[in-house]
Amino acid sequence: PETGCLSIIVLGASGDLAKKKTFPALFNLYRQGFLQLNEVHIFGYARTKISDDELRNRIQGYLSSGNEGSEDVSKFLQLIKYVSGSYDAAEGFQALDKAISEHETSRNSSEESSRRLFYLALPPSVYPQVCKMIKNYCTTKSDLGGWTRIVVEKPFGKDLASAEELSSQIGELFNEPQIYRIDHYLGKELVQNLLVLRFANRFFLPLWNRDNIDNVQIVFREDFGTEGRGGYFDEYGIIRDIIQNHLLQVLCLVAMEKPVSLKPEHIRDEKVKVLQSVVPIKDEEVVLGQYEGYRDDPTVPDNSNTPTFATMVLRIHNERWEGVPFILKAGKALNSRKADIRVQFKDVPGDIFKSQKQGRNEFVIRLQPSEAILHEAYGQATWGVVIPEAYERLILDTIRGDQQHFVRRDELKAAWEIFTPLLHRIDNGEFKPIAYKPGSRGPAEADELLEKAGYVQTHGY
Ligand code: BG6
Repeated sequence: PETGCLSIIVLGASGDLAKKKTFPALFNLYRQGFLQLNEVHIFGYARTKISDDELRNRIQGYLSSGNEGSEDVSKFLQLIKYVSGSYDAAEGFQALDKAISEHETSRNSSEESSRRLFYLALPPSVYPQVCKMIKNYCTTKSDLGGWTRIVVEKPFGKDLASAEELSSQIGELFNEPQIYRIDHYLGKELVQNLLVLRFANRFFLPLWNRDNIDNVQIVFREDFGTEGRGGYFDEYGIIRDIIQNHLLQVLCLVAMEKPVSLKPEHIRDEKVKVLQSVVPIKDEEVVLGQYEGYRDDPTVPDNSNTPTFATMVLRIHNERWEGVPFILKAGKALNSRKADIRVQFKDVPGDIFKSQKQGRNEFVIRLQPSEAILHEAYGQATWGVVIPEAYERLILDTIRGDQQHFVRRDELKAAWEIFTPLLHRIDNGEFKPIAYKPGSRGPAEADELLEKAGYVQTHGY
């Protein structure tokens, strides 16, 4: 492992994402011994003018419950310093650089390199200017190696053109190996284990194709609405918020061919191929919904056309998957909270149980709320695992320089290519969402679409 001073700089430190995800993940990494006290320092940066202690107080409440007042919490909080400044002016970033450098000088011996990890917990609209400031004022100066890495959060753009523009702007400042595009679904344990399940398992390996699998469903449901995020959500909608990134990334891992090796580039090469094999989505294979009451949010326009629910069928044109529908389904304000991968197998020939059966052989991987692998035939979890939070894993990967679970630029482009025509039609008001009741399963039309695609509703779960 690399040694030397590690500075983690959270930009947007007073925002929601930083408080709820980034700092708690850093705290857990610290508590588990992944961040060494004598090496690491954490900096918060944002526009709000507050003191170090005020930032610490704001974060404290979000660190895992049960730890309040513990020695761990106070030691961790002491690692955090705050610098305030704007996102487009040199002074703030010069002050930030000064603070980081002081820390480095105090910690590093002359032979050690410095590592700077910038976590942008910010809206993408400011990414280019912030990256420019980091590049100009805050990159590692050490000539002993070391590195500067940038972590960015979705949404990376709103469509193909804006995503490409964003990629070029950031790409002019940093190389691809320095850019870590986070999709936190890739940090979930069972998502990470999909490759093991598929490629290291003699049961699944020979079954995983069109000869045995009838359809695949990747479902995300939430039993709450946009709650305070209406302004953000209305600009993006469920396809950009969940389907284009989280669900599509899962689809890649379910559908990709075996990579040449486990090297990040080899894995990402195969994911890109899957995305490039997806054929244009047909209108008749899309159902959009919007829950009743969504527009009551004062930050949502009264005539909003933004879908809060979508079900669609993706078709992969290759030897393994021709004819197998991949159904992606996501919705807010539904009847339950869960994220599942559901693989339905074809009926066995000459099935002697046909008259007694309700449903099909279905293999379910549950990603949310608690990860588990289930088999419909038994109707219960065969095992459940305690797992680290997705963000912890991904931040640790960034420190270690492992890009396997991050989205590469060409992958992002291929992902936007799939959805952009549909998104433009929705944005232009040509495709309207169907109203559904909060707490329901979503529009009935979605279930009809599923049935048409060959999905057989199973009981339970
Ligand atoms: C985020 C979306 O990326 O993922 C949210 O912006 C969503 O709308 C969240 O609620 C869901 O993540 P998880 O891990 O709770 O399934």
